[in-house]
Amino acid sequence: MMPPQFMLLAADTHQRFDAVATAAKAGSTRSELLTMLSDIVANCMACHAANRLEAP
Ligand code: HEC
Repeated sequence: MMPPQFMLLAADTHQRFDAVATAAKAGSTRSELLTMLSDIVANCMACHAANRLEAP
């Protein structure tokens, strides 16, 4: 079972990508979409900083 924090960050990242797709279809500007994407990259980095998989 993954830690709850991991699941939350994973779900949040999926939701944020869905929001980018919706915003793009709705005609958001390039700058608005890039701002959303940079917020998502913060999720990527937060999760990678907190979780490491080690091969046995
Ligand atoms: C909820 C946690 C989580 C989020 C959010 C997340 N990742 Fe990861 N990611 C992982 C884990 C865990 C690994 C495996 C790390 C390891 O092997 O130590 C990984 C590995 C990777 C790897 C392979 C790295 C390697 O050395 O093999 C890439 C590339 C990657 N992630 C990209 C992304 C990108 C891009 C995003 C954001 C869009 C993202 N990840 C968001 C958990 C996450």
